[in-house]
Amino acid sequence: MTKLKLGVLISGRGSNLQALIDACAVADYPAEIVIVISNRPNARGLERAVAVGIPIQVIEHTAYSDRENFDRDVDAALRTVGVELVCLAGFMRLLSAWLVEQWPDRIVNIHPSLLPAFKGTDSHAQVLAAGVEVSGCTVHFVVPEMDAGPIILQAEVPVLPGDDEDSLAARVLTAEHQCYPHAVRLIAENRVTVTDGRAVIAN
Ligand code: GRF
Repeated sequence: MTKLKLGVLISGRGSNLQALIDACAVADYPAEIVIVISNRPNARGLERAVAVGIPIQVIEHTAYSDRENFDRDVDAALRTVGVELVCLAGFMRLLSAWLVEQWPDRIVNIHPSLLPAFKGTDSHAQVLAAGVEVSGCTVHFVVPEMDAGPIILQAEVPVLPGDDEDSLAARVLTAEHQCYPHAVRLIAENRVTVTDGRAVIAN
């Protein structure tokens, strides 16, 4: 089986990276991780990659005076190893429009809310403040606008009485770890097409 080559971009803990690593370890999973790139040298996710022999690269954003030069080096690193799909997994940098345009419908992200609601980095706090009873996660294609782009897959979790940000984040994270590998599988099986800004899943 020819596997889709993934490049995973991280900044921290890397639990979604771990979910992808675990999925890729199953023989019939149609994708493999060929590189993990972090903009932070101390990201814990790097250890997860090293532990299973996945090549890593650290590209520190602090070494760059402008975003596009950083993005050009990220792009070069991905292309050198033949990446076909870029997976953002807790990557805490906005991508330049230039980078997004190099990878049309080839960059995916996971966000811990049911987009388009509760964009941004404090989505769980926003959910609790709004008093909604359902939250969840969204896997979407990346476009230059933050937390926008065609939605591939969503999973719901309840918001329970007494939840705080930590308890809600933990429940959503469990859903993320199911949802992200599933969405990547759908893409790797060529079952996702984007038409008029909407992702459609076949079968
Ligand atoms: C996740 O909640 C993800 O949805 C968000 O950042 C967090 C990353 O967690 N984009 P981890 O590094 O994958 O553990």
